Amino acid sequence: MKGIVLAGGSGTRMYPSTLATSKQLLAIYDKPMVYYPMSVLMLAGIRDILVISTPASLPTLGVLLGDGSQLGINITYAKQDEPRGIAEAFVIGADHIGSDDAALILGDNVFHGAGFPRLLQAARAELDGCTLFGYPVSDPERYGIGEIDGAGQLVSIEEKPLRPRSSDAITGLYFYDSDVVEIARDLAPSARGELEITDVNLAYLKQGRAKLVRLGRGFTWLDAGTHDSLLAASQYVQVIEKRQGVRVACLEEIALRMGYIDADTCHRLGVRMQNSEYGRYLMETAESAA
Ligand code: DAU
Repeated sequence: MKGIVLAGGSGTRMYPSTLATSKQLLAIYDKPMVYYPMSVLMLAGIRDILVISTPASLPTLGVLLGDGSQLGINITYAKQDEPRGIAEAFVIGADHIGSDDAALILGDNVFHGAGFPRLLQAARAELDGCTLFGYPVSDPERYGIGEIDGAGQLVSIEEKPLRPRSSDAITGLYFYDSDVVEIARDLAPSARGELEITDVNLAYLKQGRAKLVRLGRGFTWLDAGTHDSLLAASQYVQVIEKRQGVRVACLEEIALRMGYIDADTCHRLGVRMQNSEYGRYLMETAESAA
């Protein structure tokens, strides 16, 4: 399975903070926002990741994440000139996906919860068409919404419905088979001129090949696309990290635990940042793993 992080968009909702940088480079507490979606793909066992962003932001994202070799993975980059829709990621990423399955994650989504790696890996193994991940929210009119019938079958998907049929938001993590490229290519732009991810999902639903995995209320799913939600996400990560003494979305630690890098490499990555708590955490994690 190939991974895509979609980290573009105009960021206008966060002006002036995003006038000179991209939203996905802003910090959620102690690390850049883009680390959080990257961590999800890595926990799913995906090692080939395409980062899509604006022409202005790509160079900085490249400085931050490099070619991925320091994490034992492969990171490549592609530009999206204008925000022409989430589903355009599959048109831009067609060569990257090839004949493989694809996981797309939005660059401002944060997932956290016990058993997440297992859940992701099971969803990968069982993928047949399209797997979406649902999460109960109090403001369903702000999201894509999935409705499940009594038999647990996904029966409807609606984008930001005025009268939501359920409170299950469709989160910004999507698994598809390789048909997604053709489906995205065939989409007509919506009234707002975008290739809508909901239209991709509806195409799979029509074929009877769309599934919704519900993340229970014990999970946390946040998006950090406004100043308030960014602050809330930062506070959430701070509380968890201070209380538990472990770090959320620490890419080097994940690489170590997934067996992508060894303890020596993890330690070396920590030394580079040893003036920060993050760097010292890497060194300690590496020492206890050695
Ligand atoms: O966060 C989950 C929600 O994401 C889903 O429930 C919705 O179904 C889905 O449409 C999407 O809704 P948003 O209102 O959050 O979409 P937005 O247009 O804000 O785009 C989400 C992120 O993707 C944002 O960080 C910017 C990035 N993006 C968006 C577009 C349209 C791009 O990089 N390129 C784009 O062309």
